[in-house]
Amino acid sequence: VEGVSTLRLNVNGAVRTVQAEPRVTLLDALREYLDLTGTKKGCDHGQCGACTVLVDGKRINSCLTLAVMHQGKQITTIEGLAQGDKLHPMQEAFLKHDGFQCGYCTPGQILSGVACVQEGHATTDEQCREWMSGNLCRCGAYPNIVAAVREVAGKS
Ligand code: FES
Ligand code: FES
Repeated sequence: VEGVSTLRLNVNGAVRTVQAEPRVTLLDALREYLDLTGTKKGCDHGQCGACTVLVDGKRINSCLTLAVMHQGKQITTIEGLAQGDKLHPMQEAFLKHDGFQCGYCTPGQILSGVACVQEGHATTDEQCREWMSGNLCRCGAYPNIVAAVREVAGKS
């Protein structure tokens, strides 16, 4: 039996403590220990993007990385994107453009979209599709997702 250790994670602006095995993934730390279930587990193998979160502003697949590696960094999940009751512009754009159907992929799409715009990878529809291609949508909402991300890119 592996020992349990104490991890300190800065999530959505607050330092949170997790008592877990050192090999816990960032995704499981968020969902199972911190009850932040907005971050979804699709494949658990880096292939669907449902688990996308931002770490120091960069998007990562949280299923592929250990929580312990991200102590001292700023982790942002979908729960931390809105400012009080004001939605993030990317959330507003997804609503406006119907960028979701079942919603399962949506938290990951939104965080990936935020990063995509910040990276400067949403300057054309084609570029946006390419740089959002790590986020799969079984419902096929891709045209609406691209429309949402492109709108935010056009305003920033
Ligand atoms: Fe992480 Fe699919 S759950 S990429
Ligand atoms: Fe259903 Fe994307 S909205 S998987």
